[in-house]
Amino acid sequence: MATIENPSEAMRLVRHGDAATGAQAAALFALANGLVGVEGLIDERADRPCAYLPDAYVSRPIAYHESFPGYASATDTRVPCPSPVLLRLHIDGEPVDFGGADLVETESALDFATGQLRRLSRWRLAGGRTLEIAVDRIVPLAGGACVASRIRLRPIDFGGAVEVRLTYGVEGMGAGGAEVDDPRISARLRPVWTTISPLPGDPSTVTRFAQDAVELAYRQHVAAPAAEVADEGAGHVVRGTLVAGGTLTIDRVVALASARGRPVGPAVFDDAATDFDAIAEGQNAAVEALWDSAAFAIDGDDALTQALRFDLFQLHQSASRDPDHSIGAKGLTGEGYEGHYFWDAETFMLPVLALQAPAKARTLLAYRIGKLDRARAHARALGHARGALYPWRTIAGDECSSHYPTGSAQYHINGDIAYALALYVAATGDEAFRLRAAEMLFETARMWIEIGAFDARRGGAFCIHGVTGPDEYSALVDNDFYTNAIARRHLGYAAETADWLRARGDLGALADAIGLDENEIATWRKAADAMWLPVDAVLGINPQDDAFLGRPELPGLKSPVHDGPLLMIYHPMILFRHQVAKQGNVVQAMAMDLVSMPVSQQRRNLDYYGRVTTHDSTLSSVSFAIAAARLGDETAALDFMRECAFVDLEDRHGNTSHGLHMAALAGSWLVLAQGWGGLRLDGRVPAFAPTLPSAWQGYRFRLQWRGSVIELAVHAAGCTYRLLSGAPLDILDHGRSLRVGAAPSTLARPTVKGAIFDLDGVLTDTAEDHYQAWQALADTYGFAFDRAVNERLKGVDRAGSLRLILDQAGAAIDAEAFDAMLAEKNALYRARLADYSPANLFAGVTGLFAELRAAGLKIGLASASRNAGDVVRLLGIADQFDFVADAGAVAQGKPAPDIFLACADGMGLAPNQCVGIEDAQAGISAIHAAGMVAIGIGSEEALPDADLHVPAIGELTLGQILSTEQEAAARGRLSIRTGKVEDMPC
Ligand code: BG6
Ligand code: MG
Repeated sequence: MATIENPSEAMRLVRHGDAATGAQAAALFALANGLVGVEGLIDERADRPCAYLPDAYVSRPIAYHESFPGYASATDTRVPCPSPVLLRLHIDGEPVDFGGADLVETESALDFATGQLRRLSRWRLAGGRTLEIAVDRIVPLAGGACVASRIRLRPIDFGGAVEVRLTYGVEGMGAGGAEVDDPRISARLRPVWTTISPLPGDPSTVTRFAQDAVELAYRQHVAAPAAEVADEGAGHVVRGTLVAGGTLTIDRVVALASARGRPVGPAVFDDAATDFDAIAEGQNAAVEALWDSAAFAIDGDDALTQALRFDLFQLHQSASRDPDHSIGAKGLTGEGYEGHYFWDAETFMLPVLALQAPAKARTLLAYRIGKLDRARAHARALGHARGALYPWRTIAGDECSSHYPTGSAQYHINGDIAYALALYVAATGDEAFRLRAAEMLFETARMWIEIGAFDARRGGAFCIHGVTGPDEYSALVDNDFYTNAIARRHLGYAAETADWLRARGDLGALADAIGLDENEIATWRKAADAMWLPVDAVLGINPQDDAFLGRPELPGLKSPVHDGPLLMIYHPMILFRHQVAKQGNVVQAMAMDLVSMPVSQQRRNLDYYGRVTTHDSTLSSVSFAIAAARLGDETAALDFMRECAFVDLEDRHGNTSHGLHMAALAGSWLVLAQGWGGLRLDGRVPAFAPTLPSAWQGYRFRLQWRGSVIELAVHAAGCTYRLLSGAPLDILDHGRSLRVGAAPSTLARPTVKGAIFDLDGVLTDTAEDHYQAWQALADTYGFAFDRAVNERLKGVDRAGSLRLILDQAGAAIDAEAFDAMLAEKNALYRARLADYSPANLFAGVTGLFAELRAAGLKIGLASASRNAGDVVRLLGIADQFDFVADAGAVAQGKPAPDIFLACADGMGLAPNQCVGIEDAQAGISAIHAAGMVAIGIGSEEALPDADLHVPAIGELTLGQILSTEQEAAARGRLSIRTGKVEDMPC
């Protein structure tokens, strides 16, 4: 396997010999600018079509033996276009056969700092002559569709007349060529271009080609000051003299254009650049601007830094700048997946672009808006009376998948587009675009109501039927977890956008145009609120779908028998019937923060789905890396991160020759930002929760938000934020608010990792019910009892409470009567619980829990009540805790520390990593005895020992919970880590 050379050269990718010339190198050294792409072939062997133009695709009917309504009728296939880099040589009248010549040495270097491909080859020609060919190649990131090359021919030990033919290689192009038996390439077509007649007014430097409905025009500009240049046939011929040890320099700039169903207009090249030096200068500026908002570094892993820079550079190169096009699965780097656009453009690539080059993100969304009518037509074809459904794979906007179970059934693509739109709008504040996109957002939201229903058997939960999630090893399932989760986000955002439009007075016209009424918007909200996203009672994980967990596992999964992706080995139905996943739908939902869940549940999901997932999709490692990094599983997270970062550099899936895996490349940056940086984008401001794997000394990255660019430098002590351009920006660091300005601000990484809550009187008002039950008992038996006495019972277990009451009343009873009274009090208390529901949860608890989780904190319950389990179930929060300590299993009740210690232990945390929250003095004492910081819900008078007081749980913030560590440090309980910010190159 090829290895990366000069790993310290983190701004270049350099390969030698076969690694610089092979099929994999053609993709690795591809250059593109969103309007054109060219494979990294070496010029003298670049005699096959190797350029990609977004409009250069053909449409072929799909033939079915048995066809049913709504089946896709045709597929678009992008075809490589004639080579704009082919170079042929004649020396002293003899053609040089580079196919047969001896390539003594070759080096290709892609420079991410200058945006140039620099290559050098040393050839041994017939007669032992040695010729060096060096080429600098540019596809200008901010320029038009053009490929510029500076070619230098250097004969080492000979001289003679030379003829350099700068042509395109279409002559003699015939039909045929082997079909490829790989569904990931599928309808690969052998391109057959013919040269067609010029249009009146064409300069002689223009050559035209055609294939099916696609027409191309190339205009070539050649400059060779030391030679004679002539237009001849298709291209140019440069005639000159080679002198041993001298250099013949030729600048070649090919501008490319395509059109469908009509010729390319003659005026298309009027503004096209022709000067190599000017193009190089423009490229320097464009690349510098790119790194201004995208620069990053990992201190401690040069190879990974280099890999991520390669990945990011390639993503930006392939990002479409044409609103009629999105980014293909392989970008503009190869023929894989027929050049089709999938969900991964919105889910993996767009988030990176939105945070680094928002205009490119907007282009992808504009493409979807432009195809809304096609999406409506697709929905009608599938029998939906209303709404729009985007195709699973497409170029022109129509469904191109011939296999609907893993094609059209992936309705989640609608939600993915809505997710991307929400992210783009949040990152830019581009309200004009939100307005423009609203119709698309609403039409696509309608689809969920078309395919889902409120299920009375599941308490009225909204269930979505007959869909396929991202994991294509399960198909046509009910309640795919990812689909339901993204649908919930989509419906919520659509309803919120309707409110926003209504408030601006902009809803009416749009609603009239698409027949939308308030009831429908209310249904969206109701469906979002009631979305079925269950937790399996036995495994404590989220089932991937209704049936997944009941299926048998695939025998021999991950054994050597399964060499290669399972989709290449088994009939799809074998996979559908087994508990095996190509990628993790639940883990994907976790990585995208679609569902808030306890850390322990995240851990269980990651472990469980890790066992049944083959990662046959290169996208899989992205979500697993993010989830593992957030859960602190460094080894797994780094392994998964390398899996996506090196997916093409090391050809880890064996198909880099089909083109680069653009979504995995984008994903490797998402792992840095969302995994290690803990970045979440679902709130009002960007929220970070950076952690540092022990393998690294630090890392830094930038992002753009609302026009401001900030940089985070994560180091041993915490994180330093600074503003690089734009207005000061509000962010959250581990839940703590920070305004990032030009002066660097450093926040220490919080040491608090868990919050342990009491129940009665903290999360709900059961303290009052306990009081009422005791009061009724006391009244029955004539014991003196009142609220003042009751205060002393708070936090004390049932038997302890009764003992206190009896002591207080001066009463003595035997053991049997004592037990009977305990039972009676409990019956009185439980009768009062009968009407409990989620409405009894104190205001603010749900939000606080979500904030804690978002900051990566664990949540525990340490109640003295043996009824706690039932109460949290009634409150609807039973599945929100990472651990519920069992009051019946600890030796001593509060004020002894046992239950808080048991809870910390159950969450896998040391006591001094936890904060306790209590409303009773006995509880505060227990928390302190456990060595934790105590937050009192109540007044200072009532809870004099608490370290911090808030009057009600709804007023407690995550920031306060984290800031208690200052308090704790003062008490010597916790140590705050401090350190110096190290400088790292970016
Ligand atoms: C505590 C309450 O949480 O639980 C006490 O503050 C109560 O008032 C104790 O006595 C025991 O509850 P249960 O439900 O086990 O009787
Ligand atoms: Mg209490």
